[in-house]
Amino acid sequence: MCGICACTGNLNAVKLVTEGLKILEYRGYDSAGVAYIENENLKVEKAVGEICNLEKKVENLVSFTAIGHTRWATHGGVTENNAHPHFSFSKNIAMVHNGIVENYKELKEKLEIDTWRSQTDTEVFVNLVEKENGTLLEKIISASRKVIGSFAVAILDEKGNLVLGKRESPLYVAKIKNGIMAVSDTYVLSGLTENFYTLGDNEFAEIKNDEIYFYDKNGKKIIKNSEKMQKFDKKSTIFEKTHMKSEILETKNILKTTYKNYQDGNLFSQIIFPNRPKEINLIACGTAYHSALQGAEYFKKIGIPSHAYIASEFRYGNEILNKNALYIFVSQSGETADTIACAKMLKEKKMCCLALTNTPNSYLNQICGNVLPTFAGKEIAVASTKAYSCQVFVLYLFSLYISGKFQEKEKEIENFLVKFPLVDIDKNVVDKISKFEKIFFIGRRQDYITALESSLKLKEITYINSFAIASGELKHGTLALIDEKSIVIAICTEEKTKEKLFSNLEEVKARNGSVLLVTNFETNFDNLKIPTFPPSLMPLVSIIPMQFLALHICEKLGYNPDKPKNLAKSVTVE
Ligand code: AGP
Repeated sequence: MCGICACTGNLNAVKLVTEGLKILEYRGYDSAGVAYIENENLKVEKAVGEICNLEKKVENLVSFTAIGHTRWATHGGVTENNAHPHFSFSKNIAMVHNGIVENYKELKEKLEIDTWRSQTDTEVFVNLVEKENGTLLEKIISASRKVIGSFAVAILDEKGNLVLGKRESPLYVAKIKNGIMAVSDTYVLSGLTENFYTLGDNEFAEIKNDEIYFYDKNGKKIIKNSEKMQKFDKKSTIFEKTHMKSEILETKNILKTTYKNYQDGNLFSQIIFPNRPKEINLIACGTAYHSALQGAEYFKKIGIPSHAYIASEFRYGNEILNKNALYIFVSQSGETADTIACAKMLKEKKMCCLALTNTPNSYLNQICGNVLPTFAGKEIAVASTKAYSCQVFVLYLFSLYISGKFQEKEKEIENFLVKFPLVDIDKNVVDKISKFEKIFFIGRRQDYITALESSLKLKEITYINSFAIASGELKHGTLALIDEKSIVIAICTEEKTKEKLFSNLEEVKARNGSVLLVTNFETNFDNLKIPTFPPSLMPLVSIIPMQFLALHICEKLGYNPDKPKNLAKSVTVE
């Protein structure tokens, strides 16, 4: 949600910041803006829409210091006024902000300002900063004490002072050639530096005379250790027209890389978890919740009670915690607010927490301290594809490790990875399916989970109203919706549920509904054939054509799959 890039030094800051924003665009693409110093004046340029709109406005600007922002709207609609950076009332201070000031209404009233230029919580925050006393750093530190909520902020004043602050939302800072750069995602820093610093919660930084000085919430100077930049392997990236297509096509390679990294068992042996845990509970949101569901199936198969929870539900539920259980937080970004809130809660209660993430220095990793990485490489498209496959695969490998069956399955897995099929879906089938008004996905057990993920993918990027249902549940209500305007896409990869699912499809046909069966079994239904592998690995095979289906329908309808409306890649607000 929202990306921040700030830069200062003997360099073209506006250019570097806009380039950084382009990389961060996956975090929000409603609008963007930069604040910069020109002739000792603090100025702001903003544009609604993609970063290229802003780029056109600022291409001839040269400034040694700039702060920039790409927005995913929370408070206030998508307008230039609501775009960041926001000026304080006097226009002497500009702020970019990722996060939410929860008590902004109350703070707004106290500020007693007559005219507001935007509807955002950030404008309240920057005015709060302006009203405080002291240096810019002292002002942000004291203003932040009054703020309830989350923030990653970069603040620039008319004298060129640049300060940073962080609570919950991510913020990193690094020395780069000829200057210093602060960003929401270290990916921007890739190729620009070898080392970076992660700001912790309620930590602040002042950038002065080519140095970064760090402070705690009391304004006391702190010494921070730098971290090594992760090498992003850009060589393995397949360049297609859209990130989503490249990312689906990368699945085979990243599964192989993931396996290579886990094969010797070292990564598993480094994590701390109860020996033979009494329970394994997984907590996540969206697509990551679906991989958590698959994970729970794997753990149950090896005899460990396991349950997957939606993070936003878990947080306010009355779940009974178990000191002998392992709690796995699954998240591609490691930034998802609901998942993080649950991890914090369970960590405080001294539960054994493990992060399964695709982002090495993520906040979730920091909270859990115990991490299983996925090796999917950077995932840019909002719709998660390769990261999902990687999560499912790591959870499968972890279940083998716990059960002591890793070695036994080695040959089977290697064979699977060599033959891993990226089954695409035929254009005629795509054309046919896209004509239906109602698209349902069904399956049983692991195939139901694939159905859930397939339906999410479809609605996320095609805006077609679709939902998934456990096939046995069809006749308990949803069958009432089935008619000639409906197609039911069924996934079937398990022998034990095959016959029952086929009967469900007959029930659909009897109501004039159309059917497409995605299966490795022989069938007379209209079908898409996928190859057979051991059942536990089939969810990795069957999801691919479903991802392609969503992608192709999206392309057919003329939408951009990488930037679905109303969504952002990292959901850092609850
Ligand atoms: C996936 O296609 C979605 N964009 C979304 O459901 C996502 O999986 C969810 O927001 C969780 O994100 P995370 O994995 O980064 O925590």
